[in-house]
Amino acid sequence: MTEDEIQQTLSFGPWPPSVSSDPSNRVSNDVRAIALGEALFNDPVLSVDGAFACASCHDPGQAFTTSEARALGRVLLDRNTPSLRNLAGLRWYGWGGKSDNLWAASLHPIIQEQEMAHSKESLKSAIFESAYIDDFEAIFGGIQNQEPELVLVNTAKTISAYLETLTTDRTQFDDFRDALEQRDLAAASNYPEAAQRGLQLFLGRGNCVFCHNGPRFSNNEFHDAGVPYFLNETEVDEGRFRGLNFLLSSPYTLDGVWNDDPDKQGAWAVRSVRRSHSDFGTFRTPSLRGVAETAPYMHDGSLVDLDAVIRHYSEIDTERLHADGEAVLAELNLSEQEIADLVAFLGTLSSSP
Ligand code: HEC
Ligand code: HEC
Repeated sequence: MTEDEIQQTLSFGPWPPSVSSDPSNRVSNDVRAIALGEALFNDPVLSVDGAFACASCHDPGQAFTTSEARALGRVLLDRNTPSLRNLAGLRWYGWGGKSDNLWAASLHPIIQEQEMAHSKESLKSAIFESAYIDDFEAIFGGIQNQEPELVLVNTAKTISAYLETLTTDRTQFDDFRDALEQRDLAAASNYPEAAQRGLQLFLGRGNCVFCHNGPRFSNNEFHDAGVPYFLNETEVDEGRFRGLNFLLSSPYTLDGVWNDDPDKQGAWAVRSVRRSHSDFGTFRTPSLRGVAETAPYMHDGSLVDLDAVIRHYSEIDTERLHADGEAVLAELNLSEQEIADLVAFLGTLSSSP
């Protein structure tokens, strides 16, 4: 590897990253809140008719997703269920970035019509009548003195505290990266050659690193990666455009009254963001940590495995990318060997084989 490639490889770590607690959530890092959040996440009490739990779609036994292409709630949703690991401290959440903090991203599914479909009032009654009332009151005080909206926000903040604890383990790639940092060539040579060739393509001709960068392999920004955004013949998934419309009218942003941080750190992002035509049909770059465990892929789950994803990039139809968009994506025309190498590299970003 060249010195340049080594430096770029170092920028994908160290792992795990150090994460501080979330100043916008006063129960972030609180062990009681984490335990309550975990219990609620797995309990159908959070859906109005007790029909399903967060875990029904975000299955802890399946890397916090399922193998469905698109999530099935009360109706078939438009999008694939993301895995919920490594979410602490991001700037945007959701495929279209409709939330700027993790408790809001945990709150919306509780009240969304197509998902858990609670009202604020029905959620308050459900918590009050549930086995969790003592735990809830031990953290937040008497529930009867709380407005239903406060109960909703408090509930979401316990779930957020739990989700912050979900991370992916160190991987073969991290051992390689740390060996390079220590200039330990013997240790570095344990990394499979195919994966190393794949990494070089990822950094070089593939230019994947343009968007998939940093320790999470994501810039956490919005791009058109050439996945069709037609839902059917007449409707499109507007992606970031729809996310921004939602975000800018949401009471649950870092700029709102429910932020527990008096300094409102991070609120500058939602204050300064603007809608623009180029947001149309763009989606948040997904993290590639643990990616081998979360098939199928893309916002609509349309690509069945990693081989299909690499072939998609290899044969990408640049004609249909945004005119003002991603000049960075070009047809790569990869050989079968190169496709296999990139898949091997992506495989080393997961801890389980
Ligand atoms: C019907 C399936 C389903 C259920 C039930 C569900 N989710 Fe999700 N979840 C999804 C889908 C699909 C998305 C992507 C939505 C989008 O971005 O438009 C998502 C996104 C998220 C995100 C953002 C993840 C990221 O990478 O930014 C969080 C956090 C989340 N869900 C938490 C929860 C919590 C907490 C619950 C329970 C209160 C829940 N979900 C219930 C399907 C589901
Ligand atoms: C211009 C930015 C950009 C570049 C360059 C890029 N990606 Fe992506 N990648 C994205 C976005 C955005 C998505 C989600 C697209 C969607 O769902 O519509 C994505 C999705 C993926 C996924 C699916 C992840 C999941 O959980 O669904 C994989 C795997 C992936 N990219 C790998 C690569 C590889 C390998 C390369 C280089 C050949 C690459 N990407 C180049 C932005 C980019």
